[in-house]
Amino acid sequence: MYIFLNKKIVKEADALVSVYDHGFLYGDGIYETMRAYNGIIFMIEKHLERLGRSASLTQLVVPDTRFITEAVHRTLEANKLSDAYIRVTVSRGKGPVGLDPSLCKEPTFVVIAEPFREYPEHLYKKGVKLVIANTRRNLVEAINPKIKSLNFLNNIFAKMEAKERGAYEAIMLNVEGVIAEGTVSNIFFVKENVLCTPAPEVGVLDGITRELVIRIAKKSGIRVSEGRFCPSDLFSAGEVFFTNTTSEIMPVSQVELVSFKVGEVTKALHALYKEEVRRYISAAEQQRSRATGA
Ligand code: PDD
Repeated sequence: MYIFLNKKIVKEADALVSVYDHGFLYGDGIYETMRAYNGIIFMIEKHLERLGRSASLTQLVVPDTRFITEAVHRTLEANKLSDAYIRVTVSRGKGPVGLDPSLCKEPTFVVIAEPFREYPEHLYKKGVKLVIANTRRNLVEAINPKIKSLNFLNNIFAKMEAKERGAYEAIMLNVEGVIAEGTVSNIFFVKENVLCTPAPEVGVLDGITRELVIRIAKKSGIRVSEGRFCPSDLFSAGEVFFTNTTSEIMPVSQVELVSFKVGEVTKALHALYKEEVRRYISAAEQQRSRATGA
């Protein structure tokens, strides 16, 4: 594979970052995960906006959006990819040992793109098992979950719990015991025809998929409640699913010992989500062919 490293495309074997990089030494950096469908990066503008927010919350200097957009496209082209997983990482950069970010003169900028590996269809048909982790989500006042940071141990601990218990994903509660989010996803459930999801104030990453799902639901007349929910609220729900950029809408068949069916609301929202993707991609394709005169 080819990687975009700092200013250019290099072979994977030459994509080397210093052991003194503060991303490696301290997890000091930020990232975004995007998904390309047919060569078009779905909602890239939202991802770049969020990267900008993560940058300002960590006082990290990132290249401008034009540069990043071009870097992402060049990485896709170098690897001849059209359906792809894309990761943009910006770390504090190389500097002497020590926490002070000003020790690092230049951030390290990396774009990785890989062929998108579709999730097995049976996961969407049958749903996946979740557990509620003992590991609590970072406090907003400690490391704000709004920052999509390289500092991922909090989520990794919860993921380890999920794995130990044979689950696909773990739900993390905040310190007050209120449902926050998954290790790499946002949580939704449907109760009495209302689509419920933790409010951003609970301390979650406000997912781009989450935002779109809320918009689609409202547009199709489904009531949405963003609030503070306890595990007992979720256990008595009719449907549960989680969302993120790569898996879109993933139905949940079990949380702890409680089973759920893959319900109609989940299926309808996923169909509408796919429709939104198609609309976005075809509009971007039209724009691209106008620009190239094709
Ligand atoms: N994760 N919450 C957390 C903690 C996440 O890491 C993610 C995304 C989300 C969902 O965000 P979005 O809908 O914008 O993808 C919520 C990505 C997929 C990752 O870590 O690779």
